[in-house]
Amino acid sequence: MAVRARPWTVDNGLMDEAPAAAVRGEEARLAELLRPRLPSPLDELVDDRMAARGLRLLLKRDDLVHPDIPGNKWRKLAPNLAWAHAAGHDTVLTFGGAYSHHVRAVAVAGAALGLRTVGVIRGEEHRPLNPVLARAAEHGMHLTYLDRTSYRRRTSPDLADRLRAAFGPFHLLPEGGSNALGVRGAAGLPAEITQPFDVLCCSCGTGGTLAGLAAGLRPGQRAVGFPVLRGGDFLADDIRALQRAAFGAATTTWTLECGFHCGGYARTTPDLTRFIADFADRHGLTLEPVYEAKMLLGVFTLVAAGDFRPGSTIVAVVNALADGPQSSARIAAAGVATP
Ligand SMILES: Cc1ncc(COP(=O)(O)O)c(C=O)c1O
Repeated sequence: MAVRARPWTVDNGLMDEAPAAAVRGEEARLAELLRPRLPSPLDELVDDRMAARGLRLLLKRDDLVHPDIPGNKWRKLAPNLAWAHAAGHDTVLTFGGAYSHHVRAVAVAGAALGLRTVGVIRGEEHRPLNPVLARAAEHGMHLTYLDRTSYRRRTSPDLADRLRAAFGPFHLLPEGGSNALGVRGAAGLPAEITQPFDVLCCSCGTGGTLAGLAAGLRPGQRAVGFPVLRGGDFLADDIRALQRAAFGAATTTWTLECGFHCGGYARTTPDLTRFIADFADRHGLTLEPVYEAKMLLGVFTLVAAGDFRPGSTIVAVVNALADGPQSSARIAAAGVATP
């Protein structure tokens, strides 16, 4: 995921093309067809390291929302696909790597709404298809492949023209679904949390999820994002741009903790590996290593450093687990390498 190239677009104009009521109707239809588990469960993690600091940690188990469209995928994609259908598009085209759960999620949700879907995959075609792409193809997605150099230009108008010549008109959904509609979808999560809390933590790839979560907070609450890419400070501008596109203004309710990338995207360190094993021993949950383990390593490190006020309740949003239905391919894809 070369997010440094800022491959997503912030398409503020989208909302004007389809009446809000029609979009809401399509979202309700999608939910009726696919039955997401919403609100997702909120589980307290009983851990002596939290108790020792007078803190509570709750896990927002968004990984349980839907087996093919978990967590932030559902929250960002449902409004986008509902919008596309309500606006009269019959085809949605999106981009992703060979193990992209975003691509699979678009295929499954698009099929439910009767949309034709095209997945533009980075790199060469490999047969047989891996389980993620096989699932996308099973749901009728047309897969096409772009060499890595062309893929880097995936936001260029020239490429869009070439793809339109090949596949006809389509609605283009940015990688990860991080656009104004996706951010609005993510903003619904905090309202699901019925217990009082002070800090909401999440991992960041594009920053679209954090942009939405932070905008959905109540007064006095704050959000902390943990970028999984090296040098994640660059995300701050993108998050503000996404919030402006979605809501007209950026909020100051969030911060980034950029010290927990563990060497960069899909890289690991002995500390992270130990943390994942220890967490599994203590809690029986094997954390997904590319995003969520880094975020929780960050949370526990900040707790040990006394960064959270005693008496605070922290909620950590978990979009995936390593032993969830989507995981083994992600771990294989990540190759989880030591820097
Ligand atoms: C499991 C998981 N958590 C977090 C994220 C980050 O979401 P965002 O790109 O909105 O920052 C992703 C993105 O792909 C993800 O797959």
